[in-house]
Amino acid sequence: MPKLLSDEAVARYRRDGYLFPVDVIAPAEAAELRRRLEDHEAQTGGPISGDRRHKAHLYLTWLNELIRHPRILDAVEDVLGRDLLCWSTSFFIKEASDPGFVSWHQDATYWGLSSPDVMTVWVAFTPANLVNGCMKFLPGSHRQQLDHRDTFDKHNLLSRGQEIAVTVDEAKGVPAVLEPGQASLHHVLLAHGSAPNRSGDRRIGFAIRYIPTHVRQVVGERDSATLVRGTDNFHHFDHEPRPAADCAPDALAAHAAIVGRQVQVLYRGTGHDHFRP
Ligand code: NI
Repeated sequence: MPKLLSDEAVARYRRDGYLFPVDVIAPAEAAELRRRLEDHEAQTGGPISGDRRHKAHLYLTWLNELIRHPRILDAVEDVLGRDLLCWSTSFFIKEASDPGFVSWHQDATYWGLSSPDVMTVWVAFTPANLVNGCMKFLPGSHRQQLDHRDTFDKHNLLSRGQEIAVTVDEAKGVPAVLEPGQASLHHVLLAHGSAPNRSGDRRIGFAIRYIPTHVRQVVGERDSATLVRGTDNFHHFDHEPRPAADCAPDALAAHAAIVGRQVQVLYRGTGHDHFRP
C-alpha cells in the first residue's frame, strides 16, 4: 500500500521522471519557514550564501525537522522504499528581478552516486511560477544520461554554465508551478532548468535530496548523509549529527567540515550549482 502517493501518481513519476504538485506542508507553515530563514539572514547580515546554503539542516533545527517531515518521507518512501538517507539539501533562492537562470542539465552528471535511485523534493517557501523563474522539467528525459558542455555564461547559476549539449525544445519544458507548502519530486536524471525571476519578490525553494541506504558514493572518498527513516544496513555513508540549537557552535563546525570536504573532494572541477560560491 502506498503511504501518500496513489499507484497512478507513482506510475506517472516513473514514466515522466517528476511529479507535482504534492501538498507537503500547510501554506502557513511555509510562511513560517520563510520567516525563520529571513530572521537567520537578518542575524547573519545578508542573504544566505556560499557553503551556508548547502546542508543548512546541519546547523538549523527547523530544517532538520523539515527533512524528516512525515508527509515528505511518505512520498519518498512510495518511490524509493523505507530505508532513507537525506544525502544533501540546498536553498535555491532567486532574488527579485534576479537575472540568474539555470541552463538545462541533469543532476546525475555531477554527483558521483552509484544508482539513479535519487529523488529531489523541492519545497516551495514562496510561490514558484513562470514570472519568478520556476523550474521546468523535460518529461521522460530521465531515461538516459545526456552529454553536457560548459558555456561559462555569467548569469548562469551553474558555476561552469554547464548545459545539455543538444538543443532542448523550450516548448517541451513543463513549468513546475507551485504554491507555498507544495513540493515537486524529480528524478536525478531528469533534465531541468529555470529562467530569471522577473517578479518583485524573492523566489525561495529548498531542495532535499533523498537516497535509499543501498546507494554508494563512487567518486568522492567518504561521504556523509542523515538517516531520516528506517534502518541503514549498508553503512556506505557516515551519519551526520543533528543540531541541538540553531547555529550551535559544534553544529556550525560540523557543517563547515562536512560541506568543505564535499566541495574539495567530491565536487572539485565539476561545479554543480549546489556548490557555487
Ligand atoms: Ni540541478
